[in-house]
Amino acid sequence: MCGIIAYSGKSPAAEKLYRGLKRLEYRGYDSAGISTLSEGCIFTAKHGGRVERLRADLGALSGCTGIGHTRWATHGRATDANAHPHLCGRFSIVHNGIIRNCEQLKKELKGLGRTFFSQTDSEVIAHLLDMYYCGDMLQAMLHAVARLKGLWAVAALCADFNGFIVARRSSPVVLGEGDDGFYAASDVHAIVGCAHSCCVLEDGDIAVVTPEGMRVYDSLLNPVVRAFEPVPAECAGGDMEGCPHYMLKEIRQNAAAITDTCDGFFRCEGADGLFKKLARADKIVLTGCGTAYNASLAGARLLGWAYDCPVSAHIAGEYCSDPPRLTTRSVCIAVTQSGETADTLAAASIARGCGAYLIAVTNCPRSAVTRLADFVVPVCAGPEVCVAATKSYIGQLACFHLLAAGECAMRRAGQLQSVAAKVKKLAFDGAYARVIASLCASSRAVFFLGRGGDVDVAVEGSLKLKEVSYIFSAGYPAGELKHGTLALVDESVLSIVLMCDQCLVSKCESAVEQILSRGGKVAVITTLPSAYASVSPRVQAAWLLPQTCAHLSHFISSTALQLVAYHTALLVGRDPDKPRNLAKSVTVE
Ligand code: M6R
Repeated sequence: MCGIIAYSGKSPAAEKLYRGLKRLEYRGYDSAGISTLSEGCIFTAKHGGRVERLRADLGALSGCTGIGHTRWATHGRATDANAHPHLCGRFSIVHNGIIRNCEQLKKELKGLGRTFFSQTDSEVIAHLLDMYYCGDMLQAMLHAVARLKGLWAVAALCADFNGFIVARRSSPVVLGEGDDGFYAASDVHAIVGCAHSCCVLEDGDIAVVTPEGMRVYDSLLNPVVRAFEPVPAECAGGDMEGCPHYMLKEIRQNAAAITDTCDGFFRCEGADGLFKKLARADKIVLTGCGTAYNASLAGARLLGWAYDCPVSAHIAGEYCSDPPRLTTRSVCIAVTQSGETADTLAAASIARGCGAYLIAVTNCPRSAVTRLADFVVPVCAGPEVCVAATKSYIGQLACFHLLAAGECAMRRAGQLQSVAAKVKKLAFDGAYARVIASLCASSRAVFFLGRGGDVDVAVEGSLKLKEVSYIFSAGYPAGELKHGTLALVDESVLSIVLMCDQCLVSKCESAVEQILSRGGKVAVITTLPSAYASVSPRVQAAWLLPQTCAHLSHFISSTALQLVAYHTALLVGRDPDKPRNLAKSVTVE
């Protein structure tokens, strides 16, 4: 949800900012811009479109201090004018977040004769800084942020000051120290390879950064010390390892996500206490957004089988409108790859407010959700760059298996190791995915159907396909089709039917017949040789996946559907790593 970066040091800033923005592009790629500062002058380049467009401007951006931004649009279209940085008077600012009272502020500022050049909420910050500036940039920032309501990480340059200033509330900021200067960024990935140590700014902090050093103040302007630690090596993750896209590289890491997550789980201290908490809980709720919610559906199923209390999954964005009743004996599991998703953080805070024990299942160990949680179950999938979540989903499933297994977690980990080997083979050799992808690519819509646990996989498979190919798709329980959706089925519609549970095959076969008899196309994906033998002569495509027991099959069938989505995206000419309108980390509600 927008990425910001700032640098002040001994080296030319523009190249460093550009490199950092490329690494932050997963946070949004609607527009990008850079301002640099040299001898009291601010130089700015900004464009609608991807960071790449800035490359041609770098030579004109002189100076060893600067700020940069890559945008996911919330207010105003992806135009040059709405691109950050926003300028006013002697200031240039970049902002990640959302200013909820921007309309009131704009009205007030316009009343004072000020003119706005963009439709963004962020431009008000530049005006406030300019209005409150009396020669002291720190005081100006303090006064400006005091007027804001909402979420912000803001970095600002002032033509009079050789350095930058950064402030945050709710939106993340890390500070970094390198051999040739100092950094601030939305995410540590942006400064990997440049900074050797980093710290996370706390809510309300303001940092003043010059080529000589950094000073951090709390919201009352008391100087504070934030603990620096080495930049984690696992944050590098930028190499595509010979794959044409991050999406394929990351699907190929699914197996490692399973095994590394198991290893990470057994390194956690206090897992026994965690199992006791779950066993004594009066209610367990899981919450997340998008793919993390889809993983929560599977998690609720697994935990519901394992523990003797009601277990349910909740869309985090809906949590506040209909919060489940929790007590001090309840457990809430917040599921989030990034650990920064605003809706998930809001749901987790509500649950904590009820006194529930909060478990975070996250792929990002230093993220906001880890600071809220009582216990962190690490998903050890490694950095996920592609906007479409793949290996993090698989890692989340592994966490739920271990949580559900309780004291038998070690035995379950053994089963997960053997399923991981099959997942690896499939991910590197999923040639049949292209056959189904070509059916998807020639279809007006694609339904994903299943029964039991396959429904959870179907829902996630559908999200993956629509996200990277833009083909309309929906995931359903196969039995629901005849209650309305069947009206949409004709020869231009493909239904992908999952059959991975022997007990439910005959019910799925009924759905297949209903679709075929209306002229619809069917592709069956199954781990069951008998089901394959029975349906393959009648349907347009059938894919027999490696065999495994039903409760572990989601690792295999999800990997297959991720490959189908990936190949479909390529066939219809989409960039699977950066789907339009989306961002990896959604830090606005
Ligand atoms: O970082 P999170 O897991 O909290 O993100 C939640 C969703 O925004 C995310 O899963 C989104 O749906 C992905 N683009 C799905 O591929």
